Amino acid sequence: MKGRVKFGVEGLDEMLLGGLLERSICAIVGTYGTGKTTFALQFAYEGIKRGEKVIYISLEEREELLRATMAQKGWDTEGFGDRLYLLRLDPTDFNLAISSIKSELPALIRSTGASRVIIDPISLFEGLFVDESVRRQEMFAFIEMMRDEACTLIITSETETGNPDGSRYGLVEYLADAVVLLRYIRSPGLTEVHLALEVVKMRRSAHSREIKPFEIFSDRIMVYSEASLF
Ligand SMILES: Nc1ncnc2c1ncn2[C@@H]1O[C@H](COP(=O)(O)OP(=O)(O)O)[C@@H](O)[C@H]1O
Ligand SMILES: [Mg+2]
Repeated sequence: MKGRVKFGVEGLDEMLLGGLLERSICAIVGTYGTGKTTFALQFAYEGIKRGEKVIYISLEEREELLRATMAQKGWDTEGFGDRLYLLRLDPTDFNLAISSIKSELPALIRSTGASRVIIDPISLFEGLFVDESVRRQEMFAFIEMMRDEACTLIITSETETGNPDGSRYGLVEYLADAVVLLRYIRSPGLTEVHLALEVVKMRRSAHSREIKPFEIFSDRIMVYSEASLF
């Protein structure tokens, strides 16, 4: 039986019955500002704390900015040493992004021995393929390729405009083994906005299906898995 990979977010790990399945692929889907990068960083940090090697591929935020964000959380980024391999890819450079992700990533995972890999956001990679059928083909091939690697993969995706429940290209939720959906919930009087999370899919697991509120703090995320929104 496969083991569990602790996500490192209090409350979420309980909802996942201990964590993600080892060597599985998890998509974090949500509109901008819902916390996708924050969750991804927390997953990375959990691995680093456990002495694992982590590869973080950022297509959005620059390396210095991500390091600054981590330092702001009070994490000792200097002390990470070679446990964190942070790579910024320019999402407008088609050839670079494609070759780095498609050809070089498997070799990098093997040479570093990384057990956690993050691509944030995968939607910018998907967007490089203008043709829809090519995009679908490329994404299937990429995910298949990643299944051969001895790591747990997190991919994040923006939602599609007008549909806060679906990923930008509608592919990652089919391809991933687990899907965590982040969303804003407005109070009945529209005076307040809360963040909430739902595990919408987790293959081979009787995970929680409830929508749970969460908060982002300066140094961590707290999912109130005991609280109920409705
Ligand atoms: N230090 C902090 N304290 C409290 N909330 C924060 C802090 N840093 C970020 N946030 C919250 O997290 C949100 C950004 O999350 P982020 O992970 O960048 O979202 P996404 O990647 O989904 O666009 C911000 O909109 C803000 O509300
Ligand atoms: Mg982000």
